[in-house]
Amino acid sequence: MKKPFYITTPIYYASGDLHLGHCVTSVYVDTIARFKRMSNFDVMFLTGSDEHGQKVEQKAKEAGMNPQEYVDKLDLKFKDLWKLLNISYDKYIRTTDENHVKTVQKIFTKLYENGDIYKGEYEGLYCTPCESFFTESQLIDGKCPDCGREVVKTKEEAYFFKLSKYQKQIEDYYENHPDFIRLDATRKEMVNGFIKPGLQDLCVSRTSFKWGVPVEFDKNHVVYVWIDALTNYITALGYLQEDDSLFKKFWPADFHIMAKEIVRFHIIIWPAILMALNLPLPKQIHAHGWLTKAGTKMGKSLGNGFNPYVLCERYGVDSVRYFLIKNGPIMQDAPYDNELFLNTINSDLCNELGNLLSRTTAMLAQNFEGVLPKVANTKENEFDSNLINVIESAYENVEKYINSLDINLAVNEIFKIVRSANKYIDETTPWKLKENKERLAVVLHNLYFALFSVATFLKAFLPQTSEKILNQLGMDSNNAVFENITNEFNLKIAGNQTFKGEALFARLDVNKEIEFLLSGEKKMEEVKVDVKEEIKEEVKEIKGKPEITYDDFDKCEFRVGKILEAEKVEGADRLLKFKVKIGDEERTIISGVAPYYTPEYMVNKSVVVVVNLKPRKIRGIESKGMILYACDETEENLCFVTPEKEMESGVEVC
Ligand code: MSP
Repeated sequence: MKKPFYITTPIYYASGDLHLGHCVTSVYVDTIARFKRMSNFDVMFLTGSDEHGQKVEQKAKEAGMNPQEYVDKLDLKFKDLWKLLNISYDKYIRTTDENHVKTVQKIFTKLYENGDIYKGEYEGLYCTPCESFFTESQLIDGKCPDCGREVVKTKEEAYFFKLSKYQKQIEDYYENHPDFIRLDATRKEMVNGFIKPGLQDLCVSRTSFKWGVPVEFDKNHVVYVWIDALTNYITALGYLQEDDSLFKKFWPADFHIMAKEIVRFHIIIWPAILMALNLPLPKQIHAHGWLTKAGTKMGKSLGNGFNPYVLCERYGVDSVRYFLIKNGPIMQDAPYDNELFLNTINSDLCNELGNLLSRTTAMLAQNFEGVLPKVANTKENEFDSNLINVIESAYENVEKYINSLDINLAVNEIFKIVRSANKYIDETTPWKLKENKERLAVVLHNLYFALFSVATFLKAFLPQTSEKILNQLGMDSNNAVFENITNEFNLKIAGNQTFKGEALFARLDVNKEIEFLLSGEKKMEEVKVDVKEEIKEEVKEIKGKPEITYDDFDKCEFRVGKILEAEKVEGADRLLKFKVKIGDEERTIISGVAPYYTPEYMVNKSVVVVVNLKPRKIRGIESKGMILYACDETEENLCFVTPEKEMESGVEVC
């Protein structure tokens, strides 16, 4: 049985567009989630959107919409950005989801009935943009410690959570669980700065705005921020709901990851809420630094947020992912800088990785018609052994760094293979081996193995680039598993038809590109958008695929299929396995539609199938072809495509 692994990003505020800084947490969590899936964990990766609160109410008003309409539109944009960045979340929670709302109400009532929540009057210093109350001692120069803006004295009837009651328990917990907060410095700052001076009870309801979860037993109040937002990590799994199997399986979370400004809530308020609910605490909380611009946190309200769409569109998604992983704020704040971004693409992705692939495939084409030769021995000399050692020993370090969340070091281990392989070319001088085909075969074989291994690792880090490399290597993506990064596998590979495809990353003229980026700075900065129009435009842009010729289209074969059997795929929430009859043939097809249809409902339905797609292994099952569905951008509305009247199975759709 696979071991469960639960990892989360925070839920993103649905109060405006996301900028490049927001992509940091998502890219880190996605990389770890992908790596863990490949390491045979049963992964649950949760992300979502934080859709309630005064700020959202205000923003919706400014946009001339009601709050629900406003968050619906933003949600669509968020999902679109995550799709563009290849963020492979397993679940997406919205705090306006009915299940979440109902569960928050249940939690609030439960805490009230247990005496952990009581009614009182709050007078405090409130920062409206951050939706947070502060004590005098927490302010910095009399201003909000998080955003530096003015705070106002506010007084109102409110419910309070007895945070003070958990002071000792939290202190003891930290004492006994030094690994709970990953960084020592963060732990010390939290304990000495916030816990030791004394925890104050926390205001957890509001009456001054309406856009929130109503308190079940006192409808004048809405649940205020934290009991609504933090609990997403358990409501998404079905806590206190009819089906709580995911909760039983995945809670407590393995990693909650976020940037540092919200770590305080996660290591004081969240544990106290969990203690009050008598639930175990997450295993580890990790706070990373900020992506900065001109020395300050990149943030939309600060007007220096960069638009990730522009960078992805011009330089490719993986350039952005790579930059955030390699140069991002893993430990400390890190700047986004055009020159650094462009130079990183040129040096690592284009020169080191891209050249290794193009040189290897070119030499295979010139000398072996692109076919990987079979060799009896891959370690003929010290150079061969050294390279193979570097490759075979990489997994251990990459895994270690993934587990300690040092993903910049993890990616560096992969690039060590790239660098060693480039050095190996210099050492073995394959261009001088034209007359010694046997030796040349060994050298190219080992270079092929290095590229195969790099592509396998990069599945977790740069999924699109990984696919491109495997494709040029003529290697089935199903073989790209960590278990195959061994010389034993290296010895077995032969006969694969490689080809020299397009360059992985185009070489950039840094000065010209800087000029372009600076001249487009307006475009790059977060623009205050009319959400209604803008979303539609952007979605169209991203979703639109390039034109194809009639001949391209003609290569696809569509036929009517009849579903004979349907069942869930064990251990995969989204997948259904179908037995489909197409004419005389019966085949297995897997679709990610379990959230939309029960297996029973699908039996006997007529569907449209792309029948000549190359089979793919999904969760170890060979899926042959693809059933067509219509799905809108929210991915909440999905239906299968069916012939308008009864048609025989096997009939061509053209
Ligand atoms: N809604 C809250 C989280 C509630 S979780 C129970 C929130 N949302 S956010 O949209 O402001 O932030 C989402 C994530 O993006 C957080 O991890 C946040 O820290 C991160 N970042 C936002 N700006 C960032 C940078 N400039 N740099 C790095 N990470 C940044 O907070």
